[in-house]
Amino acid sequence: MINTCIRIAACGILLLPAFAANGGDGVSVAQSLAATCANCHGTNGRLPAQEAVPALAGRSADWIRQQLAAFRNYARSSTVMQQIVRGYSEEEIDMIADWLARNGD
Ligand code: HEC
Repeated sequence: MINTCIRIAACGILLLPAFAANGGDGVSVAQSLAATCANCHGTNGRLPAQEAVPALAGRSADWIRQQLAAFRNYARSSTVMQQIVRGYSEEEIDMIADWLARNGD
């Protein structure tokens, strides 16, 4: 339980700068949501900041949605994604997957 809280708190800290940097006018909700993935997966899913984290560039929206669903229901094991994905509604995940697929080539 304590471990879970610490890990969720750490994720929150990582996600905050992405929101702050993309909260301005003219930025779509989908882009702002997808920016929360950029700290770990790279901007627009390109150029992963850390080699241990896979890039999302070039992936289809359906593939991204399937992976996120698998993390959510523990069909696919992960270190952080199963907790991160629980922070988004199905509608938000659809927007994120579509945005990354369109912009992460
Ligand atoms: C705190 C860092 C972090 C953040 C933020 C993050 N991810 Fe991840 N992601 C990971 C790691 C690490 C993995 C490898 C699986 C694992 O251990 O959790 C991963 C794996 C994935 C995969 C599978 C990629 C593959 O090649 O198999 C997808 C899809 C994914 N993340 C999507 C997202 C999306 C969409 C977001 C934003 C809503 C996001 N991630 C935010 C760290 C992160």
